[in-house]
Amino acid sequence: MAGITDLPFRNLCRKLGASLAFSEMISSNPELKATKKSQNRTNIKNEPSPRAIQILGNDPKQMADTARHCVDNGADIIDINMGCPAKKVCSKATGSALLKDEPLIRDILSTVIDSIPNTPVTLKIRTGWSKVQKNALNVAKIAEESGIKALTIHGRTRECFFNGEAEYETIAAVKSESSIPIIANGDIDNPTKAKFVLEKTMADGLMIGRQAIGNPWIFSDIIAAISPDTSAQNHHLHDKCEVITNHIEQIHRFYGDHQGPKIARKHIQGYCQNQKGFNDFWKELIEIEDKNQQLRLLTSYLHSNVS
Ligand SMILES: Cc1cc2nc3c(=O)[nH]c(=O)nc-3n(C[C@H](O)[C@H](O)[C@H](O)COP(=O)(O)O)c2cc1C
Repeated sequence: MAGITDLPFRNLCRKLGASLAFSEMISSNPELKATKKSQNRTNIKNEPSPRAIQILGNDPKQMADTARHCVDNGADIIDINMGCPAKKVCSKATGSALLKDEPLIRDILSTVIDSIPNTPVTLKIRTGWSKVQKNALNVAKIAEESGIKALTIHGRTRECFFNGEAEYETIAAVKSESSIPIIANGDIDNPTKAKFVLEKTMADGLMIGRQAIGNPWIFSDIIAAISPDTSAQNHHLHDKCEVITNHIEQIHRFYGDHQGPKIARKHIQGYCQNQKGFNDFWKELIEIEDKNQQLRLLTSYLHSNVS
């Protein structure tokens, strides 16, 4: 997730049970690739393998160059984004806009795969562009024929954006006709829902997005629910405090003194927004620019909610 799944968050999610964590999408447009933001997004130093970087674009050659660059810098998996619904992405005919152009999908997939023959390439899609252009089955077939190693499907069309509920029938239909691993995604927000989606789609894996923000423990909770030999753990706020403050410290270290505290805010909000006295805490927190002051206020707020 752009703006969320940076290196500190990926490392945390994997420590708490996620078997794989994809980087934020990086543009294959050469002008954007050189920015500090893109460089941060491709920073996979100190990340345990497998390291998966997601690329975005619509020019097969530029995407292949980007994929090769990422592999040269340590990526073990390249994921291709054909799911992003953002206006600024789709207006440039990238992300989920590509779902409208099946010949271009085939061209992108084969060009990227040919450029990195020893590295698995995976694909992320939505179920289609719109209700009347739901072509996940066709796209899955193209993906399989091109040599894609796994396909993640978000159970919404681009037209749905993030509205309404994700549907799993299309994912189930793709799974029943595919021989590559299918990963189901969309609105999986608790272990019961995870079990339901697995049973409904027969998918080979689940992808969790927004629900991990403020709750990275969701991965171990789901694993406990679906693995007979793992028992569920209760995560009390007391035990979570250390994980939360460590995460924020990692963000400060990764982005530095100036940007770190600003970027940490959305994760702090995720962790704290359902706690007592959040509104007053938040008003104070957003005024703070110093990392030590931010950490002190957060620690004292968390401890006041524990006791
Ligand atoms: C803030 C935000 C950023 C996202 N960025 C990406 C991205 O860079 N690449 C991608 O494939 N999906 C991205 N997504 C979509 C999620 O990966 C996921 O498909 C979607 O949120 C539905 O799953 P969920 O209900 O588990 O969140 C993003 C979603 C959000 C909310």
